[in-house]
Amino acid sequence: MHVDRYEKIYIYISFVVLIIFFVAITIAGFSLGIQVPSPSQQVNPNTVAIEGPFSDPGLRELAPGTYELYIRAEASPWRFYPDKVTVPVGATVTFYVTSADVQHGFKLQDTNINFMALPGQVSTLTYTFETPGEFPFICTEYCGVGHQNMYGVITVE
Ligand code: CUA
Repeated sequence: MHVDRYEKIYIYISFVVLIIFFVAITIAGFSLGIQVPSPSQQVNPNTVAIEGPFSDPGLRELAPGTYELYIRAEASPWRFYPDKVTVPVGATVTFYVTSADVQHGFKLQDTNINFMALPGQVSTLTYTFETPGEFPFICTEYCGVGHQNMYGVITVE
Protein backbone atom coordinates (compact mmCIF):
# COMPACT_ATOMS: atom_id res chain seq x y z
CA MET A 1 0.00 0.00 0.00
CA HIS A 2 1.39 3.37 -0.95
CA VAL A 3 1.31 6.06 1.71
CA ASP A 4 2.26 9.54 0.67
CA ARG A 5 5.49 10.83 2.20
CA TYR A 6 3.79 13.79 3.92
CA GLU A 7 1.02 11.59 5.24
CA LYS A 8 3.63 9.26 6.73
CA ILE A 9 5.31 12.21 8.44
CA TYR A 10 2.01 13.29 9.96
CA ILE A 11 1.30 9.74 11.15
CA TYR A 12 4.72 9.63 12.85
CA ILE A 13 4.15 13.05 14.41
CA SER A 14 0.77 11.87 15.75
CA PHE A 15 2.43 8.90 17.44
CA VAL A 16 5.20 11.06 18.90
CA VAL A 17 2.60 13.48 20.30
CA LEU A 18 0.65 10.59 21.86
CA ILE A 19 3.84 9.30 23.50
CA ILE A 20 4.65 12.80 24.82
CA PHE A 21 1.12 13.06 26.29
CA PHE A 22 1.42 9.63 27.87
CA VAL A 23 4.78 10.50 29.47
CA ALA A 24 3.45 13.89 30.65
CA ILE A 25 0.36 12.33 32.26
CA THR A 26 2.47 9.63 33.90
CA ILE A 27 4.89 12.20 35.35
CA ALA A 28 2.00 14.45 36.46
CA GLY A 29 0.15 11.63 38.16
CA PHE A 30 2.97 9.76 39.83
CA SER A 31 5.67 12.32 40.47
CA LEU A 32 3.89 15.71 40.67
CA GLY A 33 0.90 14.33 42.52
CA ILE A 34 -1.70 15.72 40.13
CA GLN A 35 -5.04 14.23 41.09
CA VAL A 36 -8.13 13.78 39.02
CA PRO A 37 -11.18 14.91 40.96
CA SER A 38 -13.63 12.09 41.25
CA PRO A 39 -17.21 11.94 42.44
CA SER A 40 -16.80 10.09 45.73
CA GLN A 41 -20.42 9.73 46.78
CA GLN A 42 -23.91 10.86 45.97
CA VAL A 43 -26.16 13.03 48.09
CA ASN A 44 -29.68 14.31 47.71
CA PRO A 45 -29.37 17.99 46.72
CA ASN A 46 -32.87 18.68 48.07
CA THR A 47 -31.94 17.67 51.61
CA VAL A 48 -28.18 18.24 51.63
CA ALA A 49 -28.58 21.53 53.52
CA ILE A 50 -30.72 20.05 56.29
CA GLU A 51 -29.27 16.60 56.94
CA GLY A 52 -25.95 14.81 56.72
CA PRO A 53 -22.44 16.26 56.99
CA PHE A 54 -23.16 19.11 54.55
CA SER A 55 -25.90 20.49 56.81
CA ASP A 56 -23.15 21.42 59.27
CA PRO A 57 -20.27 22.03 56.87
CA GLY A 58 -16.78 22.93 57.99
CA LEU A 59 -13.53 21.49 59.22
CA ARG A 60 -13.38 18.27 61.22
CA GLU A 61 -10.18 16.93 62.76
CA LEU A 62 -9.83 13.18 62.25
CA ALA A 63 -6.40 12.83 63.85
CA PRO A 64 -3.63 15.29 64.70
CA GLY A 65 -2.80 17.03 61.40
CA THR A 66 -5.49 15.24 59.40
CA TYR A 67 -8.74 16.96 58.57
CA GLU A 68 -11.91 16.68 56.53
CA LEU A 69 -13.41 19.85 55.11
CA TYR A 70 -17.05 19.80 54.03
CA ILE A 71 -18.08 22.68 51.79
CA ARG A 72 -21.56 23.34 50.43
CA ALA A 73 -21.96 25.66 47.46
CA GLU A 74 -25.26 27.48 47.14
CA ALA A 75 -26.88 29.99 44.85
CA SER A 76 -29.30 32.55 46.23
CA PRO A 77 -27.57 33.75 48.26
CA TRP A 78 -24.48 32.91 46.25
CA ARG A 79 -21.84 31.69 48.67
CA PHE A 80 -19.83 28.81 50.02
CA TYR A 81 -20.56 27.38 53.47
CA PRO A 82 -18.10 27.91 55.12
CA ASP A 83 -16.23 30.67 53.28
CA LYS A 84 -13.52 31.15 55.89
CA VAL A 85 -11.45 28.24 57.18
CA THR A 86 -8.29 28.20 59.27
CA VAL A 87 -5.93 25.22 59.36
CA PRO A 88 -2.48 24.75 60.90
CA VAL A 89 0.66 24.46 58.78
CA GLY A 90 1.25 20.87 57.72
CA ALA A 91 -2.44 20.00 57.81
CA THR A 92 -3.60 17.36 55.34
CA VAL A 93 -7.12 18.27 54.34
CA THR A 94 -9.52 16.11 52.36
CA PHE A 95 -12.07 18.31 50.63
CA TYR A 96 -15.68 17.21 50.18
CA VAL A 97 -17.57 19.70 48.05
CA THR A 98 -21.12 19.58 46.78
CA SER A 99 -23.82 21.93 45.57
CA ALA A 100 -27.29 22.35 46.97
CA ASP A 101 -28.75 23.67 43.74
CA VAL A 102 -27.01 24.43 40.45
CA GLN A 103 -23.61 23.64 38.98
CA HIS A 104 -20.81 25.52 40.74
CA GLY A 105 -17.03 25.30 40.61
CA PHE A 106 -14.39 25.21 43.31
CA LYS A 107 -10.83 26.34 42.65
CA LEU A 108 -8.32 26.78 45.46
CA GLN A 109 -5.61 29.12 44.26
CA ASP A 110 -2.00 27.86 44.03
CA THR A 111 -3.04 24.25 44.59
CA ASN A 112 -4.28 21.41 42.42
CA ILE A 113 -7.69 21.59 44.10
CA ASN A 114 -10.02 22.42 41.24
CA PHE A 115 -13.30 20.76 40.53
CA MET A 116 -16.94 21.22 39.71
CA ALA A 117 -19.43 21.27 42.54
CA LEU A 118 -22.45 19.43 41.20
CA PRO A 119 -25.83 18.94 42.84
CA GLY A 120 -26.10 15.33 43.95
CA GLN A 121 -22.38 14.59 43.62
CA VAL A 122 -19.59 14.98 46.16
CA SER A 123 -16.20 15.92 44.72
CA THR A 124 -13.17 14.87 46.73
CA LEU A 125 -9.48 15.76 46.67
CA THR A 126 -6.75 15.86 49.31
CA TYR A 127 -4.15 18.56 49.83
CA THR A 128 -1.36 19.14 52.37
CA PHE A 129 -0.75 22.79 53.31
CA GLU A 130 3.04 22.96 53.74
CA THR A 131 3.40 26.75 53.94
CA PRO A 132 1.55 29.43 55.91
CA GLY A 133 -0.49 31.96 54.00
CA GLU A 134 -3.88 32.64 52.53
CA PHE A 135 -5.38 30.40 49.86
CA PRO A 136 -8.37 32.10 48.23
CA PHE A 137 -10.99 29.96 46.56
CA ILE A 138 -13.60 30.93 44.00
CA CYS A 139 -16.51 29.50 42.06
CA THR A 140 -15.31 28.77 38.53
CA GLU A 141 -18.62 27.97 36.87
CA TYR A 142 -21.07 30.70 36.00
CA CYS A 143 -23.99 29.98 38.32
CA GLY A 144 -26.22 33.02 38.15
CA VAL A 145 -26.33 36.73 38.87
CA GLY A 146 -24.43 36.36 42.16
CA HIS A 147 -21.65 34.18 40.76
CA GLN A 148 -19.00 36.83 41.42
CA ASN A 149 -19.87 36.78 45.14
CA MET A 150 -18.84 33.16 45.55
CA TYR A 151 -15.41 33.18 47.09
CA GLY A 152 -13.68 32.43 50.34
CA VAL A 153 -10.30 31.85 51.87
CA ILE A 154 -8.38 29.14 53.68
CA THR A 155 -5.88 30.60 56.11
CA VAL A 156 -2.90 28.44 56.98
CA GLU A 157 -1.13 29.53 60.17
CU1 CUA B 1 -21.26 29.41 42.08
CU2 CUA B 1 -20.43 30.51 40.16
